[in-house]
Amino acid sequence: MKKNKKYAVLALPVAHSRSPDLFKQLAPENASYSRIHIRNQAEIVFFLKELDLDGFNVSAPWKRSASDIFASPVSNIFVKSGKSYAAFNTDILAVKHVLENNNFDKKTKCLLIGAGGAAFAVLSALNIIGLTTVNICNRTNESAKILANKFGCNHINFSDLNENIKSSELIISTLPTNSYNFERKYFNKSQILFDANYNDSALEKIAKQAECKFISGQEWLKWQASFGFEIFLNKKVNLTDLPEKRKKVKNILLIGFMGAGKTSVGKMLAKKLGRKFIDLDAFIEKNEGATISDIFKNEGEEYFRKLEKKALSFFCKNEEQIIASGGGIIESYENVKIIKESCFVVYLYSDIKTLWNRVKNSQRPLAKDFVKFSDLFNIRKDKYFSASDLIILHNDAQQTSKDLDYEIRNARIFEG
Ligand code: S3P
Repeated sequence: MKKNKKYAVLALPVAHSRSPDLFKQLAPENASYSRIHIRNQAEIVFFLKELDLDGFNVSAPWKRSASDIFASPVSNIFVKSGKSYAAFNTDILAVKHVLENNNFDKKTKCLLIGAGGAAFAVLSALNIIGLTTVNICNRTNESAKILANKFGCNHINFSDLNENIKSSELIISTLPTNSYNFERKYFNKSQILFDANYNDSALEKIAKQAECKFISGQEWLKWQASFGFEIFLNKKVNLTDLPEKRKKVKNILLIGFMGAGKTSVGKMLAKKLGRKFIDLDAFIEKNEGATISDIFKNEGEEYFRKLEKKALSFFCKNEEQIIASGGGIIESYENVKIIKESCFVVYLYSDIKTLWNRVKNSQRPLAKDFVKFSDLFNIRKDKYFSASDLIILHNDAQQTSKDLDYEIRNARIFEG
């Protein structure tokens, strides 16, 4: 069988990312795409080593860190090339494409708000297409100055922002959503507004009120993904617009190998989110009046798998629960189908040595011998990956549940 190709988006936070939904449109055979919660640069290196990704997108705030690892200029797409990764910046290509579609006069007066990675991509694109009358404005003046010098344009003080909005023809904001209160009175009908943000855009509201043309961050998102996926899959792709709202998720399901922390993290997370906690193994033990270890011993693994499937389908019919599964849940294709239809799936990841140290003295029937344990881990790794919506490194239950609580609230997983 052909090896499953693995792609992911790396960011913090990451649960809100729509990249997997865009990738799903292409539905390539034997390829899956997940999201990885990255806390620091070392975790990027760790996951690349552990998961052997075929390619990945990097989003805020890790574009520079990821690029530094491969000594490349700031990039957002990395694709496996021999033993390393080749880096590309499809943000620049996307902005260039979106702006070119709008046929700007080269003399257009542009105002760029923000001076981070997104602003860098905008400036590069403006430069390539020859729009060079650009003012840059940022809350931290110094970063606006550095960026302006790099590209030979002007920087203006943040206190002069509104005056500059008035006199600009193309206004591009790369500020985080709702971090600045734009006022309608400085805008007029002949302007064009472009917001790098694709969620809850303040500029979009202003554009509606002022009746001016608006270019959505969704366009940028779609085209950077489109060019990125072309690099991943080495073929032309044609993405369509995503619905503005993502689908509401019924449950959160924790998956991962034995010792991954599904029960301990699940309990804490359910408490933080105020949702019901379900532990499938504990439910089975209670129902059968026997421990998992005894069920395996007396009835065999196949019998246990039937109970597991029954419990999973039963709980997945309900909503708003945090469910901890047993490590083997992804072994069945039917289980994965049920899971994908009703849950946001979080894969708790730890390396094999850490997992073994956590379970070696437990009663788990499949954790009696390190070699077998580690073989099973390697067989299952790709299955966990392709079933997952989010992957997170787990070392400490307090920290992991706190990080997941933040991810789930930020992405409004239960709201859709
Ligand atoms: C199993 C994992 C166990 C339990 C059973 C089988 C597996 O749960 O369901 O022993 O196949 O990996 P944990 O992952 O909670 O240890």
